[in-house]
Amino acid sequence: MEMALSRPGLISLAAGFTDSDSLPVEDARQILNDLLRSRKTGRVALQYGSTQGEAILRNATAQRLAYLDGASDTDAAWSADRMIITNGSQQLLYLVSEVLCDPGDIVLLEDPTYFVYLGIVEALGLRARGIRIENDGLDPQRLDEALASLKRAGRLPRVKMLYAVTYFQNPTGITASLEKKRAILSLLRKYERSAGHPIYLVEDAAYRELRFSGEDVKSALAVPGAQDRVIYAGTYSKPFATGTRVGFGLLPEPVFTAVLRSKGNHDFGSSNLLQHLLARALLSGRYDRHVARLRKRYAAKAAVMRRAMEQHFPDSVEWAEPRGGLYFWARTPARLKTGTDSKLFQTALANEVLYVPGVLCYANDPERAKPDREMRISFGSASESDIRTGIARLGASLQELCG
Ligand SMILES: Cc1ncc(COP(=O)(O)O)c(C=O)c1O
Repeated sequence: MEMALSRPGLISLAAGFTDSDSLPVEDARQILNDLLRSRKTGRVALQYGSTQGEAILRNATAQRLAYLDGASDTDAAWSADRMIITNGSQQLLYLVSEVLCDPGDIVLLEDPTYFVYLGIVEALGLRARGIRIENDGLDPQRLDEALASLKRAGRLPRVKMLYAVTYFQNPTGITASLEKKRAILSLLRKYERSAGHPIYLVEDAAYRELRFSGEDVKSALAVPGAQDRVIYAGTYSKPFATGTRVGFGLLPEPVFTAVLRSKGNHDFGSSNLLQHLLARALLSGRYDRHVARLRKRYAAKAAVMRRAMEQHFPDSVEWAEPRGGLYFWARTPARLKTGTDSKLFQTALANEVLYVPGVLCYANDPERAKPDREMRISFGSASESDIRTGIARLGASLQELCG
């Protein structure tokens, strides 16, 4: 981000920013005008709220999730009572990891994973154990092997949670199937007895609503009998406005109470004004209309990127088109590294284009060397013309080194 700001000619396909032109300025203005037109509603919105978050937003969000998961909105697993509104889903991920884990504990996660989460792991003094990801989510066999080896080493008591980005994953674009979620939950349950405590699945659904083709997959909450082990993290950043930083979580007891207490100590509640903004967007139908427009916009940008990659990338570079989210994930041929010290990264930089080196998305794991032949390439914030030019520049850099 710093580099992109300091070099105006540089096209960044690296940042996870959303599309600026699509931000709902008019919607937000209308809603805020309505909200602040009356002293009564304005005063409520401008006052402190509760630590858990505005009931009106929690109810609207819980109902929406129940609808997406094909559940009844009276089902306890989707109850607004077990929802906490947070400052972005990032805060929820931090709080959950903080309350569940002690320094030295092991967090199971996808290999590769959302690299900012790796920062939380490091900050809390935790260790990460990466599990290979397949085209439809975590490989259950590898998860079983990892859990079995931790059990043999007597380290299972150090495992409290598995973190997975289940929709259009950052960075690979992969979506986990419901079968995979079921398999993961049943494996976690199987090893709980040896662990001596519950092992939770933290399902990060940050990109769920940014789906532009295919069907929605139900969340892990829809796996029968697993609701007391699923922590669902969602956000309005990606589908509405990144600047609002309103996220939310559905949590089972006793994690709910522990996270609520911790959030109380951090900030005793997220911005009330922004929660009212989101609640009104949801209840007025503006949110749905905005998401529908946004999906079309990202579908168009992803198609522009796909066509540019088809045109400019050598055949030896592998990539798959995502069905949602903001990212393409590409793999270079053997021996062509992509890390910041690599020739490719430096050539791309000289050609004024930036991507995220895949190596940053892998946890430190003494059991394997970090793969260093991948790139995360985002169509989120760049304009269509910058996507074309950026991919042409990256393609030229790849052609130069692939021969
Ligand atoms: C996978 C994933 N989870 C969570 C977040 C955090 O988003 P926010 O805190 O804005 O909700 C991001 C942001 O890029 C993300 O990519």
